[in-house]
Amino acid sequence: DRSIRGIPELKDVLIYDDGDLLTLVNKYHGVAPDYEPGNLVEVDFTMAAWDDIKVKKETYDAYKEMYEAAQQQGYDICICSGYRTYEYQQELFEGNLADHGEEYTYMFSAYPGRSEHHTGLAIDITSPSMDWALSQDFADYPEGQWLDEHCQDYGFILRYPKGKEDITGYGYEPWHFRYVGKDVAKEIMSKGITFEEYLGEA
Ligand code: DAL
Ligand code: ZN
Repeated sequence: DRSIRGIPELKDVLIYDDGDLLTLVNKYHGVAPDYEPGNLVEVDFTMAAWDDIKVKKETYDAYKEMYEAAQQQGYDICICSGYRTYEYQQELFEGNLADHGEEYTYMFSAYPGRSEHHTGLAIDITSPSMDWALSQDFADYPEGQWLDEHCQDYGFILRYPKGKEDITGYGYEPWHFRYVGKDVAKEIMSKGITFEEYLGEA
């Protein structure tokens, strides 16, 4: 079934934030347009690429711990995207469509109302050495490699791994991390599986 490479029909929609850290949002499980996560906090500018990036407090606390550890070991990471509203995701999606066409957009940009960023539990991470860009090259940069090795120790998973496109519905994104808590993150990363597989939703 290759419909996952496009925009398949939704199975359900998340209406309100019940605090579940394992909420699944993907191409089949959407988010209501007016959904707003509870406990949104602003990321301090020292740890972010731009002003005014918000994430859920749980995500932020875990990220701060990861950021400190990375700094101590000489890796400079920063968040360049966190919580996104429906309207903002729509702008991004439409911009991608105009710039890159359908095939690329469907593989790298969520349709509005289907982005994990809408939950406040997902972050995109880059580094000054990448000039704050998001690209698959990040996997070959020291910061990208450090994150790939250590993210689970802080409760994050690499959400869209290479070779799992037909399960996640998205291309390889070495910059996109999802907070799930330490125990679940360690299990997912050590088994080399996706969040969908972990939840039995693949
Ligand atoms: N790039 C991810 C799939 C998103 O747009 O949420
Ligand atoms: Zn992302």
